Amino acid sequence: MKDENVVWHQHELSKFVRAKQKKQKPCILWFTGLSGSGKSTIAGALEQRLYDLGHHTYLLDGDNVRHGLNKDLGFSDADRVENIRRIGEVSKLFCDAGLLVMSAFISPFREDRQMVRELVEGSEFVEVFMDTPLEECERRDPKGLYKKARSGEIRNFTGIDSTYERPESPEIVLNTALQSVDEAVNKIIDYLETHQIIAEG
Ligand code: ADX
Repeated sequence: MKDENVVWHQHELSKFVRAKQKKQKPCILWFTGLSGSGKSTIAGALEQRLYDLGHHTYLLDGDNVRHGLNKDLGFSDADRVENIRRIGEVSKLFCDAGLLVMSAFISPFREDRQMVRELVEGSEFVEVFMDTPLEECERRDPKGLYKKARSGEIRNFTGIDSTYERPESPEIVLNTALQSVDEAVNKIIDYLETHQIIAEG
């Protein structure tokens, strides 16, 4: 709980000038979808492309953040809510630093994604829904976790015995069962250019 004696300090340098220096409009590209749907792969390839274009980025990835900042959290509903709350706040800080932030988390609950959306200004939250079918994610099973979930070795696995709430109106929808990595990245770059988040190349 926040102490009432903690007062916000307004610093001189704004998000606007930090972003202007970097020749981009900051935003959060929020990748949501099942485990194995391609969130990390596409976010990583996008970051590489943006880097090559001279942009300033940061990638936050579920599996990695759970090794550090969120290593005290598991996969109960309450822990997932707290996971996304913290990542939302961290994403907001990076956005305030003027960066293009890629956040790749299952983030299964609509309400939590909405909470992050409301943390930043309207155009700064770009929801990227990885609409890769469960059957395809399970077929890939890159970490062998679906197999463990089916055998009951892991409980509360998203898509098996824990809910995933599909986004209702995401800004971008991708399906890596049908699209190549390059096609998916191109679609996001198009969005960023059309919305003048980055200049047209
Ligand atoms: S979230 O639901 O809280 O947003 P997050 O993206 O941080 O999840 O972490 C998901 C990753 O943790 C998966 O890609 C998978 O590798 C691993 N994982 C381990 N146990 C589970 C589980 N029960 N449900 C989903 N993912 C799990």
